[in-house]
Amino acid sequence: MIFDVLTIFPDFFVSPLQEGIIRRALQDGKIEVGVHNIRDYALDRHRMTDDRPFGGGEGMVMKPEPLADCLKAVLVGDMPTRVILLSPKGQLFTQATAHRLAAYSRLVFVCGRYEGVDERFREKYVDEEVSIGDYVLTGGELAALVVMDAVSRLLPGVLGCEDSAANDSFSCGMLKHTQYTRPRVFEGTAVPDVLLSGDHAAITRHRFIESVKITLERRPELLADVQFTAAERKILKKEALLSRIDTLVKEHRTEHHSAG
Ligand code: ADE
Repeated sequence: MIFDVLTIFPDFFVSPLQEGIIRRALQDGKIEVGVHNIRDYALDRHRMTDDRPFGGGEGMVMKPEPLADCLKAVLVGDMPTRVILLSPKGQLFTQATAHRLAAYSRLVFVCGRYEGVDERFREKYVDEEVSIGDYVLTGGELAALVVMDAVSRLLPGVLGCEDSAANDSFSCGMLKHTQYTRPRVFEGTAVPDVLLSGDHAAITRHRFIESVKITLERRPELLADVQFTAAERKILKKEALLSRIDTLVKEHRTEHHSAG
């Protein structure tokens, strides 16, 4: 996977790419990152990349020409590429987005700053606009790093064990179960017995129930989209969780119907 980043702050990308799994992925050639300074494509002698908005108003807008020229210099070759603008106005980034983006050969991140980018650049060159959450950052750089990180760890061979992304939070639509390691007793609290039992079926069942309970408590809306199997529904019924979930899903559907 090739990541290209268009930014006016290239130094943002120095240390986050030099640590841990991402560093190893770069060293192993699983990912490549090209950081491109939009300012190098500015036309005037002050190397301006922004200007005042037509129609007046607060703040500055990123000029279209340096962005377009920088992008054209990056978009050589014909590998399957997605051009992504990071902005708080984009579609919310989720684990499903990360999986979809991981299928491309190259992702180009355009890091917006100020009040946004000129609409003509967005219309002509951007494939999708992505937000990492309902809050406003000072620019798209941190968001680009978040997306790069989440996509990288899904690429084959990036995580130590090939399928260690399979049990992630969100991979089955729910949050991940709790985890324990040594010591067996920490400050008076012991690890749940079942995890030491060696009974893999019991451990899987325990972790499934844990996932459901944690999701119910923290992100109940996620459960509306989870397809439980007949066996899982049986476990949930036994644990007295099924009716709570069914009620919640019904409420969620009604809310969505009335909202839509
Ligand atoms: N730029 C500013 N805020 C952002 C957000 N929430 N997501 C992506 N890019 C941004």
